[in-house]
Amino acid sequence: MDVMRIRGGTPLKGVVKTQGAKNAALPVMASCLLLKGRTLTLENVPDLHDVSTMLDLLACLGVTMERLGNRMTFSVPEEISWEAPEHLVRKMRASSLALGPLLARCGKTVLPLPGGCSIGSRPIDLHLKGLMQMGAKIEIRNGIVYAQADQLRGRRIYLDFPSVGATENLMMAAALAKGETIIENTAREPEIENLASVLRGMGVTVDTEGTGCVRIKGVEEVQGCRERVIPDRIEASTYVLAGVITGGEVTVDDIVPAHMDALLAKLEEAGVRFHVGSSSVTVFPVRRLMPVSIRAMPYPGFPTDLQPQMVATLTLANGVSLVEESVFQARFLYSEELNRMGANITIKGDTAIIQGVERLQGASVRAMDLRAGAALILAALAAEGETRIDEMVHVWRGYEAIDKKLKALGADVALEEAEEK
Ligand code: EPZ
Repeated sequence: MDVMRIRGGTPLKGVVKTQGAKNAALPVMASCLLLKGRTLTLENVPDLHDVSTMLDLLACLGVTMERLGNRMTFSVPEEISWEAPEHLVRKMRASSLALGPLLARCGKTVLPLPGGCSIGSRPIDLHLKGLMQMGAKIEIRNGIVYAQADQLRGRRIYLDFPSVGATENLMMAAALAKGETIIENTAREPEIENLASVLRGMGVTVDTEGTGCVRIKGVEEVQGCRERVIPDRIEASTYVLAGVITGGEVTVDDIVPAHMDALLAKLEEAGVRFHVGSSSVTVFPVRRLMPVSIRAMPYPGFPTDLQPQMVATLTLANGVSLVEESVFQARFLYSEELNRMGANITIKGDTAIIQGVERLQGASVRAMDLRAGAALILAALAAEGETRIDEMVHVWRGYEAIDKKLKALGADVALEEAEEK
């Protein structure tokens, strides 16, 4: 269903359960490619379009999968293909996470360069540079990466930027490299720790220290194991903001509160009252937010994947907020759509200047990417009248049953097919 209609103005009330994290599930699913004739079992795998795309990719490479609810078992034969199909890699950037494990396990791989998307160019130069430092021979011809390595060797690698994907690809490559690999200036997102747990379960020594340095001792062969995907901190935060923007009382359950510290600190600054439980957070009604300044940056900073949703929430604050985006170069395209709903957002370079308004009006808008779509949904929940959101295909990539979850919180939400164009 490609269109969502929301009639806004209802304060949301109730409890919503968090899905397994999309950005943890994708790398740990790719890590099964390290296995030879063994199985990986994952619990709490979310039912998302991006997960389906990764399943299609793994199936193309020869992995067989079994799903029982949100438990998935990946059986990997001795021999698998090492060529990632173009149409799947172009469909989802996270397919590039097959690069490291395929190269380490098969000694070679052919993988199309992932395309850019609406939030900016999405190069993988840091992934390739690290793999070459480990001894891989890499050529790029006509947008295709040809990589070959008889035996990857562990060594010290410094990442120019704490790239999540580069950290994950190099960790998986290091698992089968000869000797120890020390990766400096790594990403420190919780999803990295989830991948480290899987690699430890496979028999690999992984020290993450949580300080942006990862040490990995490679092994000859990895073992099958079982692991649980961590809760999705971005999905959970989106529902927290749904409670805030509608002035409702919402409890988000099955979370790791520590993964949401940056958001909760900003909400406290903005005057939001909330209660943090051992695995939940409840926000209480707030009449109007106070303005705040935010810089979206790598973890543990304020997450870039929550920047659009936070900007949407701040469009109704009582004053001027500033939100700077330091991770992606074009992650404000959605602001035009919010302005069509009556918001007053001005973009200056890498900063959004948000002049709070009294109210938003429903309008016809378009989701340009996953988190932009989430931002429009939040604005629609608070707006007067009806909002029509087109291109929901982006939202289904990362939000499991968001229509049902919002309806259960009292939102007036309906889905429909897009008219034939
Ligand atoms: C992961 O993408 C997430 N995706 C993104 O979530 C998230 O926004 C991003 O990390 C940052 O937290 C998954 O985990 C599947 P990066 P990734 O490598 O790994 C530049 C969502 O909405 N860069 O940390 O692609 C890059 O251009 C998605 O769930 C290089 O220049 O992000 C970007 O500006 C969106 N060269 C910045 O680093 C490289 O080799 C961050 O990229 C790699 C990255």
